[in-house]
Amino acid sequence: MNIIEIIEKKKNGEVLTKDELKFAFYGYLEDKIPDYQMSSLLMAICLKGMNTEETFALTDLFLHSGDVLDLSSLKGPKADKHSTGGVGDKTTMIIGPMVASCGVMVPKMSGRGLGHTGGTIDKLESIPSFRTNLTEEEFIAQVEDIGFAVTAQTKNLTPLDKKIYALRDVTGTTESIPLIASSIMSKKIAGGADCIVIDVKVGKGALIKTMPDAVKLSQLMEAIGVFYQRKVRTVITPMDTPLGRCVGNRLEVLEAIDLLNGKGDENLRNLCIQLASHMVSMAKEIDYDEAKKEVLESLEDGRAYQKFLEFVKKQGGKLESLSIDAKKWEIHSSQDGVIEAIDALQIGELAVSLGAGRLNKEDVIDPCAGIVLNCKVGDSVSKGDILATLYSNKDVAIEMVVIEDLFQIK
Ligand code: URA
Repeated sequence: MNIIEIIEKKKNGEVLTKDELKFAFYGYLEDKIPDYQMSSLLMAICLKGMNTEETFALTDLFLHSGDVLDLSSLKGPKADKHSTGGVGDKTTMIIGPMVASCGVMVPKMSGRGLGHTGGTIDKLESIPSFRTNLTEEEFIAQVEDIGFAVTAQTKNLTPLDKKIYALRDVTGTTESIPLIASSIMSKKIAGGADCIVIDVKVGKGALIKTMPDAVKLSQLMEAIGVFYQRKVRTVITPMDTPLGRCVGNRLEVLEAIDLLNGKGDENLRNLCIQLASHMVSMAKEIDYDEAKKEVLESLEDGRAYQKFLEFVKKQGGKLESLSIDAKKWEIHSSQDGVIEAIDALQIGELAVSLGAGRLNKEDVIDPCAGIVLNCKVGDSVSKGDILATLYSNKDVAIEMVVIEDLFQIK
């Protein structure tokens, strides 16, 4: 077998066998195949796709590239959630505490940013001293103790996905249904939870742009869940407009804190309640409306916020030092009118260029970089109103930012 033949086979739209996938992907994991050849194979997969058998095979290869967490010592229901990636999606920081304060354990393994979409680990690392590299023992002990823990993929959990994910992030190979399905499901299965809710984002700012593709991805992930005997529910939600008001790591932590304190964006709040209710409903085997009642109570009586504080403290984070130390620029409306659209993709890409995401594998994220939106779709604005504030430690050529690309005003 040789890697060039495998790349060419996929380039020609042929089906790869599990042995061929293993040769290429495990070869890459073991540094026998270089970045450039794996990038080429990933691009061929993006362009030519993979069938269901190939996707199941790749999921299995990702899953067995490392350990599978054994959470059997945690007695009681365990629920996990995942988003296929959006702009301004800070839901994990809000939902984890909500669900844990309803008595359902949330062992959460999260990822870093991918392309123009942010990742929970980068967001949490923007909290000074916050530890995202818990050992397996620490992770399980914390879930047992307070019901919620978040860790980055440990070295021994799906290490192949970790390496491929970092390469996809910087090679334009993020938007592929089989790659997304196998990446997400291998991590979720390895993460050990028995109930999994997946928020499949669709729209301009998502990795998946169309409804038929979102349905395809949902069905594929549910089928993989059935194969591994996990309960999986998928929820398809829009990602044309950024979620909430803030995009960028520390800014999003601040927004999550506001939301847990009863302030903040209604769309974000509703989505968090919806996903948390599905998690509680599945884990406790109660109907959705009953679960929603519990979730709302945890938010409204402050238990969810207290759980968030406990979680951050447990992982070493210092919330008292959450200042935004960056230069700032304001974007003003050049006309009177109504905001018809805020382009999530353009906002996500602008946030990356401000330093909130990576353009190269080695890039270091600026925790303070990002964008705060001062308006939402449907708002009336006048010429000169502030539409958004940009934060960065780079020298931003503000005149190069094309306001019409970000905001559609009619
Ligand atoms: N989230 C993941 O974990 N993997 C993907 O490929 C996309 C989103």
